[in-house]
Amino acid sequence: LDNGLLKTPPMGWMAWERFRCDIDCKDDPENCIGENLFRDMADRLAEDGWKELGYEYVIIDDCWMSMLRDKQGRLQPEPSRFPGGIPKLARYIHDRGLKLGIYADMGTYTCMGFPGTTLDKIEIDAMTFASWGVDYLKFDGCNSNPVEQMLGYPRMSKALNATGRPMAYSCSWPVYVGSLPTNVNYTFMGEICHLWRNYYDIEDSWDSLQSIIEWFSNNQDDLQPAAGPGRWNDPDMLIIGNFGLSVDEARSQMALWAIMAAPLIMSNDLRNLDSRSRAILQNKVAIAINQDPMGIQGRRLLQEKSRIEVYWRPLSHSASALVFLSRRTDMPYRYRNSLAKLNYDTGNYKVYDVFTGSTMKVLNTTTEFSVSINPSGVVMWYVYTEQQSKQMEILHYQQK
Ligand code: DGJ
Repeated sequence: LDNGLLKTPPMGWMAWERFRCDIDCKDDPENCIGENLFRDMADRLAEDGWKELGYEYVIIDDCWMSMLRDKQGRLQPEPSRFPGGIPKLARYIHDRGLKLGIYADMGTYTCMGFPGTTLDKIEIDAMTFASWGVDYLKFDGCNSNPVEQMLGYPRMSKALNATGRPMAYSCSWPVYVGSLPTNVNYTFMGEICHLWRNYYDIEDSWDSLQSIIEWFSNNQDDLQPAAGPGRWNDPDMLIIGNFGLSVDEARSQMALWAIMAAPLIMSNDLRNLDSRSRAILQNKVAIAINQDPMGIQGRRLLQEKSRIEVYWRPLSHSASALVFLSRRTDMPYRYRNSLAKLNYDTGNYKVYDVFTGSTMKVLNTTTEFSVSINPSGVVMWYVYTEQQSKQMEILHYQQK
């Protein structure tokens, strides 16, 4: 959506993958969906170096609502879990230089059975969120049919705009109508939403992560051109720091999310994060690649028989990013190639290894290089040139 918001993919934290619909504040006060959880995460974002890196949204997901709307027909939070109400929570978050996201569902009920936003409730809900100081809406699509979705998602876009408050708009619509053209018009999606969920929910496992990477890469011809400043594909939350990924797998998620210009929205427990996960999520060059101002989504270039895959994303100032991903499960694999074979224009390039932090010596296009890639891991390069040589552009690939 071209209204000046989300010129680069959003960054922040969202409750769902890690904390789900835990509403048991009696036995699990630390982790239940309630104002304390969101205040805790805002504190961590503000105090542990996240905010400075761009992680700014604190996003409430499903299960925040009371089962009933109030007398004026407005949604309200469950009072026992949000005793201060949302405006107070929004102030708390804004006072720390952060932004608040909230969740609603286009349909009769949310996926977890809380009050939905039917067509007749769209305007009042948009106005309620604006009056509370909300900065971001995730609009889910459970319990509605395709006709209601077709009417509802654009209508919410208009309603948010009509409030006058800038609010980022995340649409789950594509997931509910089959994800791909011809069911989904991604050009239109980019006109009404800032980002959209294309595919199934991420789970805390390498299997889930692999299936998402695979689906996005297999369908990149449909998805990649849809992305750009103000309009992003959303392969779902970062699960780094939870239980399901090894260090190498966590690096793989960070690398691929940077290539895919994906939202960097973590769902983890920032109060208990191990140092290696933190280092991956706070990797400045990976973040800079993700946040590149040109906003061109990257692509999978190659799938080798050796089960090494090569990903590439063009960046500002004639730079680019390369990711070598191993889908092997045996041992570190020595992969050889040259930049010429990866379609780089003739010349000399400098290569910075994003996760080891080492700069390799200058690489000529024709030089054969070799990298050692751990099983389920990546080697990620930031490739740049000083002479600003005219780089290949994404168009080269689209034309081939
Ligand atoms: C489905 C969405 O895709 C998830 O991200 C999450 O919001 C759940 N619904 C909540 O019920």
